[in-house]
Amino acid sequence: MNIVMIGTGYVGLTTGLGFAGLGNRVACVDTDTAKIAKLDLGHAPFYEPGLEEQLEALQENGQIVFTTDLSSVIGSAQVLMIAVQTPPQSNGQADLSHLETAAEQIGNLLEHEALIVVKSTVPVGTNRRVLQIIQSSLSKRGREDLVSLIKIASVPEFLREGSALQDFLAPDRIVIGADDEVSFRTIEQMHEGIKSIFLRTSIESAEFIKVASNAFLATKISFINEIANVVEGTGADVREIAHGIGLDKRIGPLFLRAGIGFGGSCFPIVVSALKSYAGINGYDFRLLNAVIEVNNRQRELFFKKIVSVLGVLKNRKIGVWGLSFKPDTDDIRESAAIDIVQRLVGAGVEVTVFDPKAMGTAASVLPSSVAFSTTPIDAASGAEALLVLTEWPEFRGVSFETLKSSMIEPIIFDGRNALADLNLERLGFRYIGVGL
Ligand code: UDX
Repeated sequence: MNIVMIGTGYVGLTTGLGFAGLGNRVACVDTDTAKIAKLDLGHAPFYEPGLEEQLEALQENGQIVFTTDLSSVIGSAQVLMIAVQTPPQSNGQADLSHLETAAEQIGNLLEHEALIVVKSTVPVGTNRRVLQIIQSSLSKRGREDLVSLIKIASVPEFLREGSALQDFLAPDRIVIGADDEVSFRTIEQMHEGIKSIFLRTSIESAEFIKVASNAFLATKISFINEIANVVEGTGADVREIAHGIGLDKRIGPLFLRAGIGFGGSCFPIVVSALKSYAGINGYDFRLLNAVIEVNNRQRELFFKKIVSVLGVLKNRKIGVWGLSFKPDTDDIRESAAIDIVQRLVGAGVEVTVFDPKAMGTAASVLPSSVAFSTTPIDAASGAEALLVLTEWPEFRGVSFETLKSSMIEPIIFDGRNALADLNLERLGFRYIGVGL
C-alpha cells in the first residue's frame, strides 16, 4: 500500500519505518528541511535503538523516501497518516495548530479518494475536526465531488520510546476507530504481517482508548510512588511490595517501579489534556489531579531528601548520572532528571552530569554552569554525593571501588532504585533510594 506519513518525529518516523518494513511504500513528509536532509542521508534526528539500521535498509530498497514537498508524493497516496506534534499549551490543552495546518495542506492538494489516519495523540473529537478541515478545503477549490470520498480513521500508537520498533511489530492490540468497512479493511491491510488483536471501534472510542491507556499507566506510577512514600524507612521495600501486588493478574507486574516520577512527551501531556478535556465538559477528573500532583511532588521529595542528608547545598559538588526521561532515548522532554538538576543549580550546587545519549539534547536546556563529563566515574569525581536519575544499564557496570575512591563522600541518592540490588553499603557507600 502507498502511505504518506506527515511528520517525522518520534511517532512519525518510527511508524513510517514500521509500515515500510511490512512492505508498504512510505513517503515521509516534514516541513523541517534540515531534518529531511539528514534523513535523506540515512541519519535519524533522534536516538532510538535500531532506528538507523532500519532506516538504511529501507532506503536502500526504496521502501521509504523523505521529502519536504507533500505535493510531490500525495498523488499516489492511498493512506495519509498525520503524526505531527501536538505539544501542550499553558492551560494543559494540546496545541493542534500543526495538525490543522497539515489537514489544510491535504485538502488543498488532494485530487483522489484517500483514507486519512491521525496518529498524533489528540483530544477526543479531533479526528472529525481534521476531516472537516480537509472537506472544507476541498469545497473551497471546487472539489465537492471528493468530499464524500475522503474518510478518516483513528489508529492511536502505543509505542514506548526506547522500544518503539519492537512495540510497532509486537503490539498488544491495534485499535482502529473508523466509520465504514472499507476503512477498517484498509487499515488492517496496512498492518499485514503483524500478529495482534485488531480492535474495531468508533473513532471517538479509539481516541479515548489512547488517552485512557496513558492516563491509567500514569496512575499506576503515581500510586506506587505514594506507596513508596508511605513505606520508606519502615523496613518494607517498595520493590517487594510492587512484586507482591503485581502477582495479582488484575494488577500485573508492570509500571509499578517507584522513583522520581514519570516524564516524557506523552504521560504528562495526556494526563493534563484529559483533565482539561473533562473540565471543558463540566467534569472534575479528580483522580488525574492527584496523579499530576503526586508526580510533581516526587521530584520535590527527592530534592528534600538530598538537603536533609547534605545540609546546606550552596557551593557543594554533586555528580549526576542520567538526564533523559527514561533509558534508551536521548529525549529529555518533561524529564524529572532535568528538573532536579535545575533545582540543584538553583540552590548553588556545582553539578557535573553524565548521560549515555542525552547530553547533546540536555545542553540546550541546562544552565551553562553545569559541567558535562565523558564517563560516569568522571561525573562523580570529587563529588560529595552522586544522584542516579535515569536507570541506564551502563551505570550498573561501573567499578564501584573506583567510584568510591574518586568521590569525597561515598553517598548515592538513587531516584530510580536502579542500583538497589547491588548492596553498595557493603562497599562502604551510603545508599539512599525511593521507598526502601
Ligand atoms: C508512554 C506509553 O508507555 C506508550 O504506550 C505511549 O505510546 C507513549 O507514552 P514512553 O513515554 O515512551 O511511553 O515511556 P514509558 O516507558 O511509558 O515511561 C514513561 C515515564 O514513566 C518515564 O519517565 C519512566 O521513567 C516512568 N516510569 C515508567 C516510572 O516511573 N515507573 C514505571 O514503572 C514505568
